[in-house]
Amino acid sequence: VISTKKEWNVTANLPVAFKVKMTDNVLEPTNYSLIEYGQTGRGARRLVIVDSAVFFGREKAIKSYFDFHNIETKIVPIDMSEDKKNLEHLLYILEIMENFGILRRSEPLICIGGGVLLDMCGLAANLYRRGVPHIKVPTTLLAIVDASVGVKTSINHFCRRNRLGSYYPPVAAYLDRTFLDTLPKEEIVSAMGEIFKMAVIKNAKLFELLETDAAELMQQNFLLDGPAESVISESINDMIVELAPNLWETDLERIVDFGHSFSPMLEMKSLEDSTVPSLSHGEAVSIDVVFSSCLAHHRGLIPKSELERIVDLSFVMQLPTYHPYFTNYLLLWESLIDTTRHRDGKQNLPIPAVSIGNSIFLNDIKLEDVKETIKLYVQMTGKKQK
Ligand SMILES: NC(=O)c1ccc[n+]([C@@H]2O[C@H](COP(=O)([O-])OP(=O)(O)OC[C@H]3O[C@@H](n4cnc5c(N)ncnc54)[C@H](O)[C@@H]3O)[C@@H](O)[C@H]2O)c1
Repeated sequence: VISTKKEWNVTANLPVAFKVKMTDNVLEPTNYSLIEYGQTGRGARRLVIVDSAVFFGREKAIKSYFDFHNIETKIVPIDMSEDKKNLEHLLYILEIMENFGILRRSEPLICIGGGVLLDMCGLAANLYRRGVPHIKVPTTLLAIVDASVGVKTSINHFCRRNRLGSYYPPVAAYLDRTFLDTLPKEEIVSAMGEIFKMAVIKNAKLFELLETDAAELMQQNFLLDGPAESVISESINDMIVELAPNLWETDLERIVDFGHSFSPMLEMKSLEDSTVPSLSHGEAVSIDVVFSSCLAHHRGLIPKSELERIVDLSFVMQLPTYHPYFTNYLLLWESLIDTTRHRDGKQNLPIPAVSIGNSIFLNDIKLEDVKETIKLYVQMTGKKQK
């Protein structure tokens, strides 16, 4: 503390430590991951909040796991979807915690579900008695490669996505691919947008892995050993390397924002406009990746051969590459202005440079660049439209 006895300036560091671990079959009794933290033995209890879509068909496995370890457990399935990511459901989760009387140190809340459930339970864990430990078990591909590896929690509010939230790390995230066997195909495709993004902007090895294995991986919901593990491991590693030094997002030059430069506004707008196809988040990201890669070629940053590989891979991955909004220069320009506002007045546009897997940030994109890029984008994607 620095003090003059009339003014006190307090500085403190918040220690952050958490584990992210790939481990298959977390619900096998011989897998001790879920009870690695917290009290075990006599009197041990856990509160488990689980996405109903995951609970269905796995009720016995979840119960047997904790029975095997002699842990008294309250298991609460909750219906989850983006429209339930709200204050009402947050309060419901908090009420469950209050009724259980969760202990602050010895009873980590166990959260099993997709990104929506993990974001909400993370916020509830942060709010309840100023913070109880929680463990994340992601069950969608998106949550495995993105939502579970960071520290952000949130709910939607004021008609805005993720408007209320916090930075609150879990004690651990256990990533178990076997949950994906029941995940609908469109959820796999949506997550592929984020993996594709990472490959193009940061990881040439991941890009090559996808070129050889993506089609089969998707067909098998990532249950294929070997390639599935490698793709997930590479994606998570990139994400963690990018996030760890910037956990509180103070640095606004973020490679992970690739694919999120033009897309955020267009994604939202498409949901309210009946004249165009609605864009899911993953679709909007992957189209933005293709458009931004066209911009990179237009600016002479990557050769045509690299751009062709990017467009070809998006096709192999069954990602949409085309949407009419990405041919409307006024809309694209408005989106870029909106994004620039969120990046403290700088475009900070991550963009591939020299070759796939390498990048720079651009801050001098003009309306003319956007207009020229549209011509290239239409030419590149026209013949590949799904
Ligand atoms: N905190 C972060 O850093 C971060 C990062 C990226 C995304 N997110 C958030 O994540 C959310 C999107 O996550 P999501 O894509 O996982 O969506 P989601 O949680 O809505 O899950 C998608 C659907 O799949 C169902 N589901 C989940 N697991 C399943 C399984 N194994 N089998 C069958 N069905 C299953 C869910 O019930 C839901 O209907 C968004 O709200 C987004 O804001 C957060």
